[in-house]
Amino acid sequence: MTSTNDIRRGFLEYFAGAGHVEVPSAPLVPYNDPTLMFVNAGMVPFKNAFTGLEKPPGPTAASSQKCVRAGGKHNDLDNVGYTARHHTFFEMLGNFSFGDYFKEQAIQHAWTLLTKEWGIDAGRLTATVYHTDDEAFDLWRKIAGLPEERIIRIPTSDNFWSMGDTGPCGPCSEIFYDHGDHIDGGPPGSPNEDGDRFVEIWNLVFMQFEQQADGSRADLPRPSIDTGMGLERIAAVMQGVHDNYDTDTFNELIAASESLTGVRADSDHQASHRVIADHLRSTSFLMADGVLPSNEGRGYVLRRIMRRAMRHAHLLGAAEPLMYRLVPALVTEMGQAYPELVRAQPLVEETLEREESQFRRTLEKGLRLLDDATASMNEGDKLDGETAFQLYDTYGFPYDLTEDALRSRGLDVDRAGFDAAMEKQKAAARAAWKGSGEAADSEVWFDIAEREGATEFTGYTSTSGEGTVVALVRDGAEIASASEGETVTILTNQTPFYGESGGQTGDAGTVSTPEGLQISVKDTSKPLGRLHTHSSTIEAGSIAVGDTVHLEVDIERRDRIRANHSATHLLHAALRNRLGGHVTQKGSLVADERFRFDFSHPKPLSDEDIAAVEAEVNAEIRRNEQVVTRLMSPDDAVEAGALALFGEKYGEEVRVLSMGGLGEDGRSYSVELCGGTHVKATGDIGIFRIVSESAVSSGVRRIEALTGEAARKWLVCREDALKSIATTIKAAPDEVGERVAALVDERKRLEKELAEARRQLALGGGGGATDEVSTSEDVAGVTFSGQVVQGLNPKDLRSVLDEAKQSMGSGIAAICAVNDGKAAFAVAVTDDLTDKFDAVSLVRTGVEILGGKGGGGRADMAQGGGPDGEKAQDAIVAVRESLIESAA
Ligand code: ALA
Repeated sequence: MTSTNDIRRGFLEYFAGAGHVEVPSAPLVPYNDPTLMFVNAGMVPFKNAFTGLEKPPGPTAASSQKCVRAGGKHNDLDNVGYTARHHTFFEMLGNFSFGDYFKEQAIQHAWTLLTKEWGIDAGRLTATVYHTDDEAFDLWRKIAGLPEERIIRIPTSDNFWSMGDTGPCGPCSEIFYDHGDHIDGGPPGSPNEDGDRFVEIWNLVFMQFEQQADGSRADLPRPSIDTGMGLERIAAVMQGVHDNYDTDTFNELIAASESLTGVRADSDHQASHRVIADHLRSTSFLMADGVLPSNEGRGYVLRRIMRRAMRHAHLLGAAEPLMYRLVPALVTEMGQAYPELVRAQPLVEETLEREESQFRRTLEKGLRLLDDATASMNEGDKLDGETAFQLYDTYGFPYDLTEDALRSRGLDVDRAGFDAAMEKQKAAARAAWKGSGEAADSEVWFDIAEREGATEFTGYTSTSGEGTVVALVRDGAEIASASEGETVTILTNQTPFYGESGGQTGDAGTVSTPEGLQISVKDTSKPLGRLHTHSSTIEAGSIAVGDTVHLEVDIERRDRIRANHSATHLLHAALRNRLGGHVTQKGSLVADERFRFDFSHPKPLSDEDIAAVEAEVNAEIRRNEQVVTRLMSPDDAVEAGALALFGEKYGEEVRVLSMGGLGEDGRSYSVELCGGTHVKATGDIGIFRIVSESAVSSGVRRIEALTGEAARKWLVCREDALKSIATTIKAAPDEVGERVAALVDERKRLEKELAEARRQLALGGGGGATDEVSTSEDVAGVTFSGQVVQGLNPKDLRSVLDEAKQSMGSGIAAICAVNDGKAAFAVAVTDDLTDKFDAVSLVRTGVEILGGKGGGGRADMAQGGGPDGEKAQDAIVAVRESLIESAA
């Protein structure tokens, strides 16, 4: 028997041998198409190569592409478990020509591989062609020698393949395998074609057009080839079984669920085992590609698939969560071909276990309610929409799960009633919100959120991608379009741009279209916590609701933000280790240039504390451990040791970030709840440097810090400053500290000496630093001495005047000391003259001239000062004149 793994390899090797570039499977979340939920065909990753927007990997290529068909145009979820060949997850083998070969070689390759390489009986093969495609018809005759009755012309869309409502498309030719007349069914195009006898195994699409949103079709630059062969179907053919679920891979997965549940996959339980095996594949691969369960968008499709499987596990009587215990069997089967599955195994197991434990809490109650509601129903009856909605809203039953649960009894659900109940709840939510007094200008966001649901944030795993414009907002109102020069806020259905929240600054980047739209986004925010908005002025071109735009985050800036955000987590842990468990985060601001982190602590950090915290964070950075993100319920997260922000409102699920090495307790160095974007491994932070520590309010401290290149630059700057000081003082950088201390001491000593010298000079009078000395003179009958001294310490004024008084015996002395342009002024009157002259009023006369105010002291000694040092001489003169006046 040829194993599925060998068939996959054989296919790729055949086409590699024929010159095709082997391209690994792209992730399930399409980066290049906002209209698609998941990659649903092998050609999706090459869509832009077909339309000429991107360079193809080579003229021809081949791949085995992971596909999910659940949600969107190609949705097989409802059928899974009940047919031989429907899957939510499957692998599509494909060969592609980007304007290289066309129909003839495509048919030639398919025929050679099937019948020559793999030896499939040509007599069992039938081809279909689009009814007008004579060329393909003739080629099947010529190359395969198929008789005319086994080349069937089909006039329907079955033979015109399109990826979605828009995108590359073209007529196609399908190859069918006849499993034999023991199975019911007719050839394609016959009334009984839906039977299982003739199974389509390979579709060759002759890509010629691009379907436009307005319904028209444009020619592709060059006719191309896209083919798709379901690996599970060809494996069934080559393994001689009719049913995909009887191939080796599924046998192994079903055997694992049989052994864990102890229930055989016989007729009663076959569907359940199949659903479980299929859904195990889709959910595991989706999680490995970054989708995590949620209540919106892709995450909700994932949750729906999971819960559908979980109900079947319950049907099999599984007493414990089952799905996560099946992951090892899946990894054994498929891990080699898809290493991402091996890498994600712990995350997948943990998430499945948590989801299943959580859902089991309401599953049983919901099923009981369902049983009661349907007890008296007969085949063909419909469950009322209210009950289906109650199951959805209260018991977490996705709509399709309820449908699936009623299927075996031939019961249906009233979809319109379900939708009406949903609408009613939304209206109630709006009424409650209006009553809550939120700002009126956010009403527009509420409208959009209600209509469009949450924006899907793709930025945890990518930094660029396409989005469909779902709304444009200006001045608080929705608009249909905007053009160059206008400032607008853009909302897309999905975006890699982080909207400012949780202290992390929003992303910057560009929004553009091939038609010429150019916007540099600098402001991104997250109204209602659910919508991601991009605001800016349109630099060129125009934008309208419904457009597909390319969103490109400024990666370097994002990387700086990531490094800073992850550093806050390490800092938080280091502070708690050093200062104690009372340290909790009180706020943070994570920007691209720097970050600040506020935390509770009663007193300033010592230099030793800062040094120790910084060293510890840097040690964690150097350990370079992977950063791990998990989704958990808030309670589980706290139990896992996550630091939660007290008083913060968390949803029913939280992201838990584990960072740094494992401690003795088996926990990571840092475990925190966080919705921000983070580095992949701590080493990406580079360097961590604290640049300031200060108080914010009583009991709250703030640390500002830098990481990566900003920290390096900061350190270099300091080093340069040190070098320049060293050069100035002619010392080696290492000796700067010692030398500067010595210089400071020397300066102090010199200042003292200088002050003393000036004092001596002032006392002795004459020359040097004294501007003009009036040695004692007789003014209006009293001895007067007035002098201006540069650089004399104001403290010394009194002692200089005391000595002047002594040497005069009887008289009046005024002195003005000028320092840094300012004047200190003092006047002394010997005791015998104080009844005639008042030192205080004399000093005030001078102070006024000096631009100062007041002046005080006693009648024999008074002091004051003013800012106008250059008027020192005038002040002395003024005192002298006032003596003359008072004598007159
Ligand atoms: N894209 C084609 C398909 O999915 C091959 O069938």
